[in-house]
This record gives sequence, C-alpha cells and structure tokens, in this order.
Amino acid sequence: MKKIAIFCSGSGSNAEKICVFFSKSKDVSVVLIATNNKSAFVIERAKKLAVPFFVFSKKELNSFSLLQRKLEEKQVSHIVLAGFLLKIPSIMINAYAKKIINIHPSLLPKYGGKGMYGKNVHLAVLNNKEKETGITIHLVNEFYDEGKILFQKKCSVDKNETLSSLSKKVQSLEHQFFPLAIKTFLS
Ligand code: GAR
Repeated sequence: MKKIAIFCSGSGSNAEKICVFFSKSKDVSVVLIATNNKSAFVIERAKKLAVPFFVFSKKELNSFSLLQRKLEEKQVSHIVLAGFLLKIPSIMINAYAKKIINIHPSLLPKYGGKGMYGKNVHLAVLNNKEKETGITIHLVNEFYDEGKILFQKKCSVDKNETLSSLSKKVQSLEHQFFPLAIKTFLS
C-alpha cells in the first residue's frame, strides 16, 4: 500500500478530488493533508472527508523534524503538492527523493518559478497573448518548478478568454488528470 500525504496552502479542490479518487483504492491511501495555513479551506475539506490534517509553520517546514515525525508516524511513502506555495527544503527533498510531485497550472518551463502560482500564472499567459496553456505534473527538486516533467495536458487560450474562464478551464484539466497522473506515477 502506497501512503500519500497531500500538501496544500489554500482551497484544496485538487486535494479533495485526489482523496475521493483513491477512497476505494486497495493500492493507494491518502493518510494526511498537511497545510502551512491554519485558515486554509482545505482543512474544512479534510474534516468533511475524514482525512487527518496537520498544520505546520514555515519554520517547522524548514527545520523538518516535527513534520518528518508526523510523516513517519503516518508511514507516508509519497508526497503530493496540490496548491502548496512554500518552497520545499532540501532536507525534505532528500528524505523523499523522487517521491514528491507537484502540479503547476501552465505548460512548464513556461510561466514557472517564484511568485508564479494560481491566478498570476493565468494573468501572465493572457498578457502574453499565448494561444495555448495547460497543466504540468512534475517531480519536485530544489528549484521552483524545475523537476522532471511526468505529465502535461494542453488547452487553448481563446480570443475572448478571461481570467475567470481560463482559470476554470485549467482547473477542470487539473481535476480530470491529476488523480490519474498520481496513480500512474505510483504504479
Ligand atoms: C492549482 O491550480 C495548482 O495548479 C496551483 O494552485 C492551485 C490550487 O488549487 N499550484 C501552483 O500554482 C503551484 N505553483 P486548489 O487548492 O483548489 O487545488
């Protein structure tokens, strides 16, 4: 049995899709939702889904000892970043070498890097009049959005596309493909 922890800083719509997708799986179990934001909506989702959650500070992420104990207590084998906005420290990357994956709402290497998250990414895509964008699922290394790409899916950016319509389009790709990409990655 692979045991995953989902790290999330905000709403957690992807976290919820992943939990539901694996809820009946015999091979994969979501054993923890971890967040650096005590008011993140993902906590409400964790309660509703009856998945244990854990809140930690940026300092605790960077020292990693408390978090590592929590991950070990839950026997976490793999980590999924789903809207997690802090940089993962090297100590954690080394402890979970090639076992941490992230989703990014653009076709990396385009529109990645520090400060590029959520709506900032879509605004940059619209401002640059891109004709297509999409999602990327990749391994996490010490550099923002630079680990090995595992999966990408494109969508068009239409002439009258707005921030809201583009966010919805990309989010629907995420919800559709992220759980499947995790399944493939783990098998
Ligand atoms: C998702 O769109 C994800 O791709 C993005 O945050 C959103 C989280 O939404 N991640 C990044 O931008 C990482 N650089 P959610 O909390 O509703 O799943």
